[in-house]
Amino acid sequence: MSTVAHALTELVNQAAIAAGFADSPVAMEPVVPTNESRFGDYQSNFAFRLGKAQKTNPRALAERLLAALPPSPMLAKAEVAGAGFVNLYLSDAWLGAEVARRAIDARIGVPAFGAGKTMVIDYSSPNIAKRMHVGHLRSTIIGAALHRIHAFLGWTVIADNHIGDWGTQFGKLIVAWRSWRDDAAYTSDPIGELQRLYVDFGVRAKENPALEDEARAETAKLQAGDPENRELWERFCAVSMQEFESVYARLGVKFDVVHGESFYRDELAGIVDELLAKGFAEESDGAVIVRLGDVEPSMENQPMLIRKRDGAALYATTDLATIRHRLRTWAPDRVVYVTDIRQRHHFEQVFAACKKTSFLGAGSTDMVHVGFGMLKMPDGAIVSTRKGAGASSDGPGSLNLKDVLDAAAAHARTVVDHKSAMLPDEERWQIAEAVGLGAIRYADLSQNPASDITFDWSKMLSLDGNTAPYLMYANARCRSIFRKAEIDFDTFVPGAVVPEAASERALAMAILRLPEVIADAARIYRPSVLAEHLYQIANLFARFYDECRVLDAPSEVRASRLALVYATSRTLAVGLDLLGLRALDRM
Ligand code: ARG
Repeated sequence: MSTVAHALTELVNQAAIAAGFADSPVAMEPVVPTNESRFGDYQSNFAFRLGKAQKTNPRALAERLLAALPPSPMLAKAEVAGAGFVNLYLSDAWLGAEVARRAIDARIGVPAFGAGKTMVIDYSSPNIAKRMHVGHLRSTIIGAALHRIHAFLGWTVIADNHIGDWGTQFGKLIVAWRSWRDDAAYTSDPIGELQRLYVDFGVRAKENPALEDEARAETAKLQAGDPENRELWERFCAVSMQEFESVYARLGVKFDVVHGESFYRDELAGIVDELLAKGFAEESDGAVIVRLGDVEPSMENQPMLIRKRDGAALYATTDLATIRHRLRTWAPDRVVYVTDIRQRHHFEQVFAACKKTSFLGAGSTDMVHVGFGMLKMPDGAIVSTRKGAGASSDGPGSLNLKDVLDAAAAHARTVVDHKSAMLPDEERWQIAEAVGLGAIRYADLSQNPASDITFDWSKMLSLDGNTAPYLMYANARCRSIFRKAEIDFDTFVPGAVVPEAASERALAMAILRLPEVIADAARIYRPSVLAEHLYQIANLFARFYDECRVLDAPSEVRASRLALVYATSRTLAVGLDLLGLRALDRM
């Protein structure tokens, strides 16, 4: 199956060749959906752009293009409009049959655009001995959606959780652990106690700077393989991973590899030496830097520091080792990092260094940083996230994610109680968990990642507007129509849709556009493109269901409308699943 846009583009390209435009100075371009239905469903701007480029009348060129358009069952009509556009109108018969064809397809007609391609995606990536903070929550939500979207499109995806599990914080933690830990507190809340030890270290070291020296010595011992320190470090990692895993299980997030920073610890010195030997890096003031101006002129005055004067490696050094490993191991077409937007500069440097040091084998890999904005409270307060690359203090914004997820389910439960008081208690909790977690996810995914988002329970749980409950409810309504009609949804075989009302046709059109939308979302790394489209489908469904009778319509009309309801539900369910939301049969 191909997308509507692809198939129409193919037709227009054939016409362009037949009309003798093949060698034109303007590249053939895909047709695009029109903004308004009175201009048809899709339009080609090719003749318009060709006319501009050649300084000939675009309308005349559009007429030639139109005349050469091969006949197709897809089209009801095509016409020249405006300054030289060709407007394309899909035939209702084709559209209605196509909706049914896709609705019974396991992939609802979405081609595997990414087949044969590989992507490495680095997301979540929290730090050992600290709670995940809101930044890690956003990274997990956005990363998981990009992961699912690409996997659905046929990409081979390697999801790598780049845990912060190495560095100078462990020396501090070891000193604090030996000197002032509270065993009872550790037993009841391991990460909470580790975090307290770490924060206290900062406070005490201000008064007693000798602590810093002790910590440095312990870090050095750990790095040299001292068994006692090694054992402590392993314990800190294990208890932290346990807590992270419980959040992932609840969010349904799975990684293929968890190669934390420590995975690369033995490569750091070698990489710096190698870059020095090959002339890619140079000494500067006793430290080692990579100059980037030759590959990225804007970075002329911003060399990348890869070894400090005391010989220590940095966050950037680890990321060079990391990207080298990924390129060598998986030869990916895409490497994607999902972090706080404030790490953008760091990643720009890593990518530039990759280009420069050809030994990293960058090849034709797209390297992308998907940066996200801040999370704010309704009163405008910023929930603090990581303070720039390499920073280690969690600050006041560190959250117990379990508490946040519990709160989400509890808030959702009040909505469920209100809507579905007749369901058994147990089921109401299951719905509340799906709606609550879905609401948190969707509040994030419905925005451009780079935007700041506001954490507002009543908004994200509202049954009106662009929210998870609204979309989930639209799907549940579709399913309830089938229950009412006593038709088994899972074995239902839809016939062709015969769109009569404008609202039916618009809904059918939106359903057919889904593959294009998913491909767009992946291309620009924005799950919000998909969310926006699902919202449109839910709105169009509400309008259709408002205007059109379904179950009590005459039998042929009823069959067509049930097919449309079926297709709507399948489309919403697949779309919601790609965003990590569970489509419920009822709520
Ligand atoms: N652990 C880092 C943090 O908490 C994120 C790591 C992102 N990935 C990477 N390869 N640098 O901010």
